[in-house]
Amino acid sequence: MRSGPTSSVSPDPAVTVSELDLAGDAQLDELLAFASEHGTPRVTSAVAYRELMAEAAAWSAFVARSADGIRAAALPSIQAAIGLDQAQLNAFLVPGDQAAFDAVLEQVAAWASERSATHVTAHVSAPTDTAIDAWRAAGYEQVGERARVSRPVTSEDATMAEIDVEGVTFTTLAERPDLEDSADELWRIAHDDVPSALRFSSADVPPLRGELGDDPERAVAVLAIDGDDRVVGLALLIRAADRTIAGHRMTATAREWRGRGLANALKVATIRWAAARGVDKLQASNDSGNAPMQAVNARFGYEPEYRLVLMRRALA
Ligand SMILES: CC(C)(COP(=O)(O)OP(=O)(O)OC[C@H]1O[C@@H](n2cnc3c(N)ncnc32)[C@H](O)[C@@H]1OP(=O)(O)O)[C@@H](O)C(=O)NCCC(=O)NCCS
Repeated sequence: MRSGPTSSVSPDPAVTVSELDLAGDAQLDELLAFASEHGTPRVTSAVAYRELMAEAAAWSAFVARSADGIRAAALPSIQAAIGLDQAQLNAFLVPGDQAAFDAVLEQVAAWASERSATHVTAHVSAPTDTAIDAWRAAGYEQVGERARVSRPVTSEDATMAEIDVEGVTFTTLAERPDLEDSADELWRIAHDDVPSALRFSSADVPPLRGELGDDPERAVAVLAIDGDDRVVGLALLIRAADRTIAGHRMTATAREWRGRGLANALKVATIRWAAARGVDKLQASNDSGNAPMQAVNARFGYEPEYRLVLMRRALA
């Protein structure tokens, strides 16, 4: 999907923007070292970043350099799990070097337009006011806010008291593969219902099976089923490469079952699954407007790690 590396000269003649050659890890490692110095990238090595991008429809990496070295960097991707109409972006700058930042973001806009995206949505981790100002100056508007939260897992969590909800039983997709269609239906509805500025698009979202992969020790989909074998709740948990960290990917309750404790019960089941496998940290990202999900995470001791501000720019 990716075109070959390109270079261009920005309006500031001292700055050259180039698309990285992703055939090896060296350039991407250098970009991520720059990102760590000037911001909070999701991961800090090329190997880990490639894993994050494993399911992306397209992704790339750009840097703006001057004689002083890297001055700005950008990591755009297009992901069906959010929606193919927009590019997701992490980008970093040396504070104050707006010209380099603008130049790299122009290349990202061109890259995204070539792939038929209509918007670029930037995920800005733990931003300073100066960083937000730099995004605004580059034509991005703040559209929402999320929080990265996490919770340590202890050995006692493996026996945490399960929560009963009248009328439902709990299983996993690995145990009941026959429930895949019903689970997929709720998976899609849930994407439409997340109150997020990310604008998840259920039209593009890949089937649940694709998200889970084939290794039942890497990822789990806990299912809540009603008396008619219909999936009325689901919660996904996916372990990272080193398996000691796991991320909650989606917790969902069927519309007519909300407010009866199902999300709390599903959360307990995923925490128990993680604890039984030696996971020592659980992570999630929640939108600031998602009161029920925030309540679930607060109840089980998830603490904020940092803010994630969402900034968006429409493409011409
Ligand atoms: C978020 C969601 C999973 C919650 O499911 P649920 O089964 O209704 O939640 P529960 O009944 O277990 O309630 C969980 C907590 O949220 C609280 N809550 C429920 N609805 C609420 C509301 N509308 N506003 C504020 N708090 C609410 C409950 O009181 C409970 O807190 P408590 O344990 O401290 O009393 C459900 O609303 C949903 O599927 N939303 C769409 C998908 C989504 O946004 N998923 C999360 C993003 S990953």
